[in-house]
Amino acid sequence: MSSEPVVEMRGVDVVRGRAHLLQGVHWRVEADQRWVVLGPNGAGKTTLLQLAAAHMHPTRGEVHLLGETLGAVDVFELRPRIGLTSTALAQRIEPGERTGDVVLSAGYAVVGRWRERYDVHDLTRAAVLMEQWGVGQYAHRPFGTLSEGERKRVQIARALMPDPELLLLDEPGAGLDLGGREDLVGRLADLARYHYAPAQVLVTHHVEEIPPGYTHALLLREGRVVTAGPVGRVLVPEALSETFGLRLDVERRDGRYTAHRAA
Ligand SMILES: Nc1ncnc2c1ncn2[C@@H]1O[C@H](COP(=O)(O)OP(=O)(O)O)[C@@H](O)[C@H]1O
Ligand SMILES: [Mg+2]
Repeated sequence: MSSEPVVEMRGVDVVRGRAHLLQGVHWRVEADQRWVVLGPNGAGKTTLLQLAAAHMHPTRGEVHLLGETLGAVDVFELRPRIGLTSTALAQRIEPGERTGDVVLSAGYAVVGRWRERYDVHDLTRAAVLMEQWGVGQYAHRPFGTLSEGERKRVQIARALMPDPELLLLDEPGAGLDLGGREDLVGRLADLARYHYAPAQVLVTHHVEEIPPGYTHALLLREGRVVTAGPVGRVLVPEALSETFGLRLDVERRDGRYTAHRAA
C-alpha cells in the first residue's frame, strides 16, 4: 500500500461573506483509517466533507485528495473515486426510480454520463452490494416506497458502486429508529473491518453512532478542529465537553460509546 494520504488538508479556511465555515484545518486521512467527525450543528462538518468530496474548494490553504490537488485537477475525474452519501444527495433521487437503478446508475451519475445499457460486471456488482446492505429484495421497488433505514442502505450501496477509494457518510444515522440505527452501525462496523474497504469518514453528532472498528476521530467546533487523532485518545470527557459546550461524561463498552451530561 502506498504511503500517500487519501485526504490531506493544510491550513484550510472556507469563508462565505463574513462567516468562517472552517478555519485553519489541518487533517490527514490514511487509506487504512476510519474516521468519525463529531461536532454540534453548524460546526462545519458538512463543509469539511464537501471539501473531501471535491464538491467545494477551500478559500485558503491546500486540499490534497487521492494524490491530486484541488484546484489543479479536473474534479469530474476525481469524484468517481470518492463515494458520498448525504441527505441533500438523497433528496435528488427520483422517488419513482427503481431501487436497482438507483444503485446501478451511480458510477455514471457522478460524472454526468448516462448509459442505456450496463455490462454484466455492473449488474453483478450492484446485486452483490444490494445483498450486502440488505436491500436486494427491493431491486424492483420504487425508491420512494422504502423505509428510511432501507433508503440509507441503498444510498451506501450506491456510493460503493464505483468502488471508491474514499467513502464519506454525512449523518447516515439521521432519522433512523433504534432498530434501524443498530442495523446500520453493525453493517458499518463490518465494512470498517474489511481490509479492502475504502478509507471511511463518518459525520455524526451522536457518539452512539460510532461503529466499532472506527480508528480515528476529529472534533469540530465553530469551524475549528478541537482535537483529532486515535479514537480512544480523542473521545475523552474534556475534549467532548469543549466541542459540545457542556460538561459531558463518555463511556465505552463493547466498542460502543455513550455520552451524557456530567453529574
Ligand atoms: N453559503 C454559506 N454562507 C454562509 N454561511 C454558511 C453557508 N453555508 C453554510 N453556512 C454556515 O456555516 C456553518 C457550518 O455549516 P455546516 O458545514 O453545514 O455545519 P454542520 O454540518 O456541522 O452542521 C453553519 O453555521 C451554516 O449556517
Ligand atoms: Mg451537516
